[in-house]
Amino acid sequence: KWKQSFRRRLLAWYAKHERDLPWRKSQDPYRVWVSEVMLQQTQVETVKPYFQRFLKAFPTVKNLAAAEESQVLRLWEGLGYYRRARGLHAAAKQIVAEHGGQFPQDVVTMQSLPGIGRYTAGAIASIAFNQREPILEANTIRLLARLLAYPDDPTKSAGQRLLWATAEEILPSTNVSRFNQALMELGSLVCTPTQPKCEECPVSRHCGAYQNGLQDELPRAAAK
Ligand code: ADE
Repeated sequence: KWKQSFRRRLLAWYAKHERDLPWRKSQDPYRVWVSEVMLQQTQVETVKPYFQRFLKAFPTVKNLAAAEESQVLRLWEGLGYYRRARGLHAAAKQIVAEHGGQFPQDVVTMQSLPGIGRYTAGAIASIAFNQREPILEANTIRLLARLLAYPDDPTKSAGQRLLWATAEEILPSTNVSRFNQALMELGSLVCTPTQPKCEECPVSRHCGAYQNGLQDELPRAAAK
């Protein structure tokens, strides 16, 4: 019952607060993939112009596969973590060689591509293909740890197991694409690392941290 309320309230909030971001203009799996790889270690505002230039230079996975690595790396200059760019390029070649240039649709096949782990595969499967696959990244780890009032470090293995299971259980059977993007958006805009805006949160009534006044204490930081 609480899950239905959570889903309805989250999606209603997202309908009002969704940011207009360049990678949200279509559900093309290639665009979703490039954006998620760029967003792994880089802020949204920094990613925007890089994403636009990258898509202009390489509009499709086939264009990326045919490029020289030096050109791919040049477009990545300033984003850092160049392993990500090499992974994208190598994966594009693999998609052309093994999948006829068509982005694979199942998460297991996606995870056989360089640089695509459980999170990125779940993001592409849900956002591009609307499959009922969970996601768990920085924003949603924090949001779900507060929702459950999880008392330990949620990045350790016990916490990861619990949060992946929770990320799966709360998924609706339809609108998974919007639901997962809404979770990240709420984490990014409202359920912030410090001073979360709980008065603006559509799901505070379901939040264990908020109901116990623990939103400033959770999630528990990694032990040093
Ligand atoms: N951070 C990681 N993925 C994101 C997305 N799709 N939208 C906004 N922030 C994100």
